[in-house]
Amino acid sequence: MGEKHKTIYDRANKVIAGGVSRNTIFRKPHPYYVYEAKGSYITDVDGTRRVDFANNMASLIHGHSHPAIVNAVIEQLHRGSAYTLGTEAEVAFAELLIGRSPGFEKIRFVNSGTEAVMTMIKASRAYTGKPKIAKAEGAYHGTYDYAEISQTANPDNWGDLDKPNSVPLVHGTPPSVMDDVIIFPYNDIERTINILDQRASEIACVLIDPVPHRVGFFSATNEFVEAVYKWTRKNNALLVFDEVITFRVNYAGAQAVYSVTPDLTSLGKIIGGGFPIGAVTGRSDIMQVLDPREKVLRHPHSGTFSANPVSTTAGRVAMEMYDEKAVADLNALTAIARNQVEESIKIADVPVSITGAGSMFRMHFKATVPTSYRDAYQTKEIKTLIDKLLDYLFFEEEIVMINTCACMFATTLTQREVDRLSEALLRGFKHIKPELEQLVLRSAD
Ligand SMILES: Cc1ncc(COP(=O)(O)O)c(C=O)c1O
Repeated sequence: MGEKHKTIYDRANKVIAGGVSRNTIFRKPHPYYVYEAKGSYITDVDGTRRVDFANNMASLIHGHSHPAIVNAVIEQLHRGSAYTLGTEAEVAFAELLIGRSPGFEKIRFVNSGTEAVMTMIKASRAYTGKPKIAKAEGAYHGTYDYAEISQTANPDNWGDLDKPNSVPLVHGTPPSVMDDVIIFPYNDIERTINILDQRASEIACVLIDPVPHRVGFFSATNEFVEAVYKWTRKNNALLVFDEVITFRVNYAGAQAVYSVTPDLTSLGKIIGGGFPIGAVTGRSDIMQVLDPREKVLRHPHSGTFSANPVSTTAGRVAMEMYDEKAVADLNALTAIARNQVEESIKIADVPVSITGAGSMFRMHFKATVPTSYRDAYQTKEIKTLIDKLLDYLFFEEEIVMINTCACMFATTLTQREVDRLSEALLRGFKHIKPELEQLVLRSAD
């Protein structure tokens, strides 16, 4: 069991740093390699077939190899994959996305969520003429230096909640980057406004993910978003949303439920229909900093594969199918799943709680629902136990989940897979129950 995987990993280790190009796929003692995937099922090179609740880190809204997407992409591939000229595919997809939200006035495509957030931050600086950004402690926004700060802040380095430290992620991050990123505690209006006030004249944008996965996967309150929005109006700054994951939550994104509209929004993941993509969208007057017709180019912007017709075609087909009804149906199925998992938690009688929104949820090894990054923070011991549960699900139940103990649903899932998930989790919770109770008791001491 696992021999083929080990053989491939041995080869990988000789040529790829650490044997993987993305740490996400690493699993001890070695990663598992896919042969094929269809709908909500992945078959590995050993022939084991697993049900997929990770969907490539929330990017496959219609599961794997959806026939409509595959056919459209094949048709496009016969005509080429990228040119140093424009394509109608780009324009058609832009029209579709712009039509989904009144806040999306103009758009630009890039190749990843990281690039989308980076371009959004640079556009904010170019527009306001200010150097700093503010972001939430613990929030993940991809791998741009500035967006990475305090992504994994821990009790030894996070500092006072009234003024959280700017904690580097990567060794060698220049001190000037830390200096240019202001960290605030998510959903904490009073502290956040105090922190922003101290650097008001220097802040270009306040970056918010409306349901930040790594912070704890709870939604920003309307009061919080409104307070930050008002602050940005007073201080010549922008409110910018990272909706790379959360766009799926409503037809017009997670932002649809707030009383104010972000100035700019980053998109990614599902809008690529399974192919690499990112996008920045928002107010026309701000997006103008990217306009090559301007006398002074405030933000010259290009990318070799940006808006390539493979990603934009796949994305258009996927998003056409992810219409208002599909969004509502998927959210409803996920709500059923969440209820069933809650029931499993109750029956297993374990200190586990759930957060999430729309078609996504995450489990916490805590009896009460966490409401802040520091509250949701997972110690090494908790992470080890989560890995034990995830390994149990992967090897014994043939279920794939995200390594934070999260599920990201796809329209190809049905009640059958939902039942399988909640039943597997019930057994999984029982499997780790003694250790989990010990851990939670110890952390309460
Ligand atoms: C909220 C958020 N922003 C940005 C990114 C970066 O996207 P990508 O991995 O496509 O660079 C991610 C990826 O997980 C994300 O979850």
